[in-house]
Amino acid sequence: MTRPLIVANWKMNMTLEEARGWCAFWPKDWGVKKRAANVVVCPSFVQLLFVQGRLLEIGFELGAQDCAAEAMGAHTGDVSALMLKDAGCHYVIVGHSERRTNHRENDPMVCQKSIQVFSSGMTPIVCIGETLDERTKGKTHEVLTRQLTRSLPHDLKEKNVVVAYEPVWAIGTGKVPAMDEIKNAHAHIFEVLTSLGWEGAKPILYGGSVTSDNAFEILGLPFVGGLLVGGASLIPEKFDGILKAAEVF
Ligand code: 13P
Repeated sequence: MTRPLIVANWKMNMTLEEARGWCAFWPKDWGVKKRAANVVVCPSFVQLLFVQGRLLEIGFELGAQDCAAEAMGAHTGDVSALMLKDAGCHYVIVGHSERRTNHRENDPMVCQKSIQVFSSGMTPIVCIGETLDERTKGKTHEVLTRQLTRSLPHDLKEKNVVVAYEPVWAIGTGKVPAMDEIKNAHAHIFEVLTSLGWEGAKPILYGGSVTSDNAFEILGLPFVGGLLVGGASLIPEKFDGILKAAEVF
């Protein structure tokens, strides 16, 4: 397996002081000495510029949690992909289930956002995943196929994209699918990406209640190329435990 990609999604957490404290946990040259994973940290928009320099010193990359579907203009309160690029981001999460649910974002909007991220020279982390109801009805693979087909811009297949499989019911709940379920979902995502012509898409991340206890097992599954971590990324000791699990790969 190539070096896993581990993404910290801080969501709407951390004051500036807390963010600085988080950064202070890591030695300056962490990336040089211990680098077993590529690490991306996605703070809130307002913290990007404050933590950017420190994250780079550690050896982490910077990402954002969302961006506008439009390039610029009269969109009060929105942040464009180009602004995020200016702030030092290399990655932008799009289509997170919390955006899909709380802000009624649909697949075409997610696709527009991916296009903005690509056009600004960054990599989108496109989130997909089934709800508990869809899972119970046996529709997981159908939902994943639909979300992938509609959320990815079909004329940009030569670009690199990261797909994150996050079962909605596993986010922040402490519930994790059986390893076989994760394996099957990732194999399915890989198949769909290949059939859509996105052979170069990599890696496919798993997200949803990842901890230092389950990270190793999940990272060992076929087609799992990394992790998207919410709650456990907020405490540096816990996040460090997850990164340690990646050292073996
Ligand atoms: P948790 O790790 O808190 O379940 O969150 C997962 C997630 O939504 C990451 O984007």
